Amino acid sequence: MDKLYEGKAKIIYPGPEEGVVRVYFKDDATAFNGQKRAQIAGKGAVNNRISAALFRYLEARGVPTHFVRELSEREMLVKQVQIVPLEVIVRNRTAGTFSRRYGVEEGRVLPEPLLEFSYKNDALGDPLIYGEAAIALGLVTDEELSRIRELALRVNGLLRDYFARRGLELVDFKLEFGRLPDGGLVLADEISPDTMRLWEMKTGEKMDKDRFRRDLGGVEEAYQEVLRRVLEAPASA
Ligand code: C5P
Repeated sequence: MDKLYEGKAKIIYPGPEEGVVRVYFKDDATAFNGQKRAQIAGKGAVNNRISAALFRYLEARGVPTHFVRELSEREMLVKQVQIVPLEVIVRNRTAGTFSRRYGVEEGRVLPEPLLEFSYKNDALGDPLIYGEAAIALGLVTDEELSRIRELALRVNGLLRDYFARRGLELVDFKLEFGRLPDGGLVLADEISPDTMRLWEMKTGEKMDKDRFRRDLGGVEEAYQEVLRRVLEAPASA
């Protein structure tokens, strides 16, 4: 079937009816803006299942998402949206580009969860952008940005609890938002070890894409372990 869009980790196909699309999760992994590429065996299936579980969890707690249902091991059905061209990053501890940009060690606990925006633009390398500039460029409205801030912080609180109950610390993550035809904003894209940093609480081990970015080994195993803990469903979840 004709693709609507192919990204680095997913392919979007038309859905069975108007207003929905099919997302296929690939095993392809890229890092550093596409400069490093590889396949991570089974990643697509793991990310599909983790994303589905997290979207369900968030929806049940009042966060609107694009998720409709799982279709197969590697596919989910989602509402068709117009993606807001911002990467919304929430940080609880310093890591990654934040540590590099400001010259701070990794793992410092931030006094408050920190929100950061990047302009989704491959040619420019997804530059950091501040809210007023995103509004001035017409990427987002003032009202949308307020709603995005509110939802991103709520998602952070909910996901931190969720992973803490599973022995994992949510260090940081990236969200994307989409506009429905009626203008409503929903959480879109995926939420998976590709888009979050998760540290094992007892050992401090990295359980996310940093294992691939930094050639730490055990990438597949870490992703599988996150999925296992997601499916484990502790009594309080
Ligand atoms: O690289 P950086 O430290 O800015 O990433 C912050 C968080 O956002 C990490 O969890 C990373 O996996 C995620 N991220 C992403 N997609 C990007 C950039 C960052 O999922 N394009």
